Amino acid sequence: MISLGIGLIGTGYMGKCHALAWNAVAAVFGDIPRPRLAVLAEASQELAERKAQELGFARATGDWRSLVADPDVDVVSITTPNAFHPEMAIAALEAGKHVWCEKPMATRLPDAERMLAAARASGKVAALGYNYIQNPIVRLIRRLIDEDRIGTVNHVRIEMDEDFMADPDAFFYWKSEASSGHGALDDFGVHALSLIWTLFGGVRRICGHMAKPYADRPVKDGGRRAVETYDIATTLIELDNGASGVIALNRSAWGRKGRIFVQLFGSKGTIVYDQERMNEVQLYTADGAGDTQGFRTILTSPQHPPYDKFIPAPGHGLGFNDLKIVECRELIRRINGEAAHLIEFEDGIRIERTVDAIARSAHSGAWMDVAADEGRQTA
Ligand SMILES: NC(=O)c1ccc[n+]([C@@H]2O[C@H](COP(=O)([O-])OP(=O)(O)OC[C@H]3O[C@@H](n4cnc5c(N)ncnc54)[C@H](O)[C@@H]3O)[C@@H](O)[C@H]2O)c1
Repeated sequence: MISLGIGLIGTGYMGKCHALAWNAVAAVFGDIPRPRLAVLAEASQELAERKAQELGFARATGDWRSLVADPDVDVVSITTPNAFHPEMAIAALEAGKHVWCEKPMATRLPDAERMLAAARASGKVAALGYNYIQNPIVRLIRRLIDEDRIGTVNHVRIEMDEDFMADPDAFFYWKSEASSGHGALDDFGVHALSLIWTLFGGVRRICGHMAKPYADRPVKDGGRRAVETYDIATTLIELDNGASGVIALNRSAWGRKGRIFVQLFGSKGTIVYDQERMNEVQLYTADGAGDTQGFRTILTSPQHPPYDKFIPAPGHGLGFNDLKIVECRELIRRINGEAAHLIEFEDGIRIERTVDAIARSAHSGAWMDVAADEGRQTA
């Protein structure tokens, strides 16, 4: 197994998260050569140099295209705002690099389809940043479903809420621009759909609704600007397996900080999970005497892989950045030709097609058939 050369584009919230993962993955898992942190790209040379120093990269550039062309780089982490993903990912794949691109894949379905075509043509690994599926608790939930512990799952409800857009006077920024996509759908909806994909598979039919809680926001250098994206989205869904469900998203939900509230209702029980309490899951099974039935709390422990790679003691808890380290290990597994727990462009396109259908449904008011949209090129 060779040591991979890493190129990182962007060093904001997720750029740091990727950098921490690349720094830690060999130490945590202990079974792979340490990746070489080769080149970091930022919007300016000055910022790139400062961040390369902080995050441990050997070289810095203000021109991401030179990073993509660099022979020392085997894998490109793309952590820039959404609108950059297609151009950067396609360039990296065409240069023969593996790609680890943050979600959403793209802001328009035709761009995501082009990214998929580039991945197929390159033969390289092209993975998406769906870190929440890497939580050991999510693997446990999958196992509980597979073991029929809650019977046939007939209803799935996922809410994702945060409050970073809750203040009506929060500044207009890239997530308020139409170039970033539809809004809560690209920000949160794709995460909800990544969990559904991991636990159950695809979505067959949807009926969406999107809302703007605030019509405009202040601009840093004065005045106000009309908000172009929808901070709230609600969708009725019907899964490929026939289960019904609801996805409710709000990035202007005061008090909610990192909530992904998942409720899975089955014929024999219920599973409840909340990302704000990411080290526990609630399990209700409709067995035993009725007077002592109730939800019980299962805490993560070394019995829930790969928790054991981080901490030998149960109940001590992983954190958000740890999920990226797990995702990084899965990516390396995939690059080495092994099976991996990862959403690649090949499956991620189903998520993009679902998001596209939800947005069109929200504008038309009609139910949409997602499966029928396969290969469809929308404007
Ligand atoms: N997987 C997750 O849980 C998760 C969480 C948050 C954000 N994200 C995704 O990560 C991406 C980035 O979001 P963020 O919150 O980190 O944004 P951010 O604004 O914090 O960081 C973006 C970075 O990209 C840099 N950048 C912009 N243009 C560039 C260019 N031309 N060349 C090089 N660098 C450039 C910026 O300077 C900044 O450092 C988005 O696509 C977002 O959807 C994913």
